[in-house]
Amino acid sequence: MKRMFIAANWKSNITKNEAGIWLEAYSKNSVNTSSELVIFPPFTLLDFVSTFIKEKELNLKVGAQDISPFEKGSYTGEVSGELIKEFAEYVIIGHLERRRLLNEDKDLIFQKIDRALKNNLKILLCASNLEELAGIEDYEDMIIAFEPISAVGTKNPADLEIVRHFVNEIENRKSKIIYGGSINEENVKIYTDLENIHGVLVGSESLNVTSFINIISNVG
Ligand code: PGA
Repeated sequence: MKRMFIAANWKSNITKNEAGIWLEAYSKNSVNTSSELVIFPPFTLLDFVSTFIKEKELNLKVGAQDISPFEKGSYTGEVSGELIKEFAEYVIIGHLERRRLLNEDKDLIFQKIDRALKNNLKILLCASNLEELAGIEDYEDMIIAFEPISAVGTKNPADLEIVRHFVNEIENRKSKIIYGGSINEENVKIYTDLENIHGVLVGSESLNVTSFINIISNVG
């Protein structure tokens, strides 16, 4: 059986108060699952969320939504791997929204990968097409999230054929591949049942704890 990876990307949402409510509700209704579950809160909540999870011994891990291309030092506003690794095990690199809205390019992505590796952070690399993966190795524990542009944040998940095609094109890679884009509790199983898809990256539907719990249950 495939061990699934289910990620909640909270993006630039969720206040500390809301995170407390989310986590309390999760701790009362958490699902017994063999899936690996990772929450990606905003930087402001990494400490709070990771401390809560540890204290309540929840079956959740924590990741950061981005990493600075610089090591720790005089880089105002940046959050370096050295600081992230105190709280998080994973880091997202190359999310579509950063590539498009902040013009993140391949060079920057390579620098971020380098910083993640140097700090032993596991990489969740997002790619919307094959070109974005070109030249990037399969690092240990790296996960690739296929996130087609038309599916992210649109409530319009990708056609299965598009996902199958992407997966087939990179079948020689060692990294686990997950799918992201408009996943909800009704459609999640359709994607996790696809051959060689090992999980999902969930955006908007992860903000509602009940929806996220149902997603985990429906993956089984
Ligand atoms: P969405 O976001 O589930 O809201 O489409 C997915 C993502 O951006 O990772």
